[in-house]
Amino acid sequence: MPTPLARRLGLRHPLVLAPMAGETASAALVAAVSAAGGLGSLGAAYMTPEAIAAACREIRERTDAPFAINLFAPMEVQAADPAQVARYRARLAAFHTAAGLPEPPTESPAGPAFAAQLDALLDGKAPVFSTTFGLIPAAAMARLKAAGVVTIGTATTPAEARAVEAAGFDAVMAQGFEAGGHRGGFTGARAEGDLIGTLALVPQVVDAVDIPVIAAGGISDGRGLAAALLLGAEAAALGTAFLRAAECPLNDGGKAALAAADAGSTTLTRAFSGRLARGLANGVTEAFADGDIPPFPVPNGLTRPLRSHAAQTRDAGLTSVWAGQAAALARAEPAAAIVARVMAEARAALAAAPAL
Ligand SMILES: Cc1cc2nc3c(=O)[nH]c(=O)nc-3n(C[C@H](O)[C@H](O)[C@H](O)COP(=O)(O)O)c2cc1C
Repeated sequence: MPTPLARRLGLRHPLVLAPMAGETASAALVAAVSAAGGLGSLGAAYMTPEAIAAACREIRERTDAPFAINLFAPMEVQAADPAQVARYRARLAAFHTAAGLPEPPTESPAGPAFAAQLDALLDGKAPVFSTTFGLIPAAAMARLKAAGVVTIGTATTPAEARAVEAAGFDAVMAQGFEAGGHRGGFTGARAEGDLIGTLALVPQVVDAVDIPVIAAGGISDGRGLAAALLLGAEAAALGTAFLRAAECPLNDGGKAALAAADAGSTTLTRAFSGRLARGLANGVTEAFADGDIPPFPVPNGLTRPLRSHAAQTRDAGLTSVWAGQAAALARAEPAAAIVARVMAEARAALAAAPAL
């Protein structure tokens, strides 16, 4: 399926391993998908410049195929109301007590700076850059273009897709409401964007822009990939479908929770980071269901010890297991087998289409 975008990126398949930052970020997984003919994308937003440089080296050692590095666009940080932070911390403390952990931290340290991360991926000669949560500074875009890097922005509405195109991105990822992880929206009254499903969003984004569209959200097998192509996308990005992959470093507790998931197991929540994200519902998402949560990134910092503890103890009930609505379609297979299966399913679905 040599779509123009796949050809431009040098891919055998119009399939992107969606970027997934945090515990799930893995050079081995990225390289496995790229080597299998898709575009592996490393969610590098929480990584230091040194770690990004090392990951670029590791991916290159494993494969000559193209890959992407994904960063969060620099965001304006909203001031947090101290009284709300105190209420949030008090509720979080109950989980710490139950888990035998010391009190939650009071400070939320800032993550690595975008500019230094960008330097690292340019030095690492990443062929593709992708981003979420907004646009990047014009100077950063100019540097990426000068280096010949293909750029991909994220949109949750047609208006955001137009902004991504106007900012000079080469392609846009249209992220539907079904998607696992954080919503990439950045315009409008709601920072997370409007809650539009992939089936409705993709054709409207295709109509809104001239750059190629990558469909994301709830696509976990070849039927979904085929549907995305029929909607006008030139590739599909699959995140959740790879969470149970052999190369995915998600802890066994998270993998087991995903294996038990059904179509209704996920929820949209701000509980863990302050930004709206989709993940498996659990006691923590329930405890914060009233939405009395400070803005990003305060909760992200305050929940770090609880999330680390949960990863070590493999307790999916205490942490964010980001996953999309098609989690139940994800299978425990090596990444190359997932790529091969999804592509075979997509070919079969498209071959059957004329008979309909
Ligand atoms: C565990 C996880 C982490 C994610 N982290 C990022 C990220 O760092 N950057 C990004 O652009 N998108 C991130 N996303 C969103 C994905 O790139 C993509 O939009 C989503 O996985 C597609 O929906 P699906 O999970 O239903 O396949 C993440 C998704 C998951 C599941």
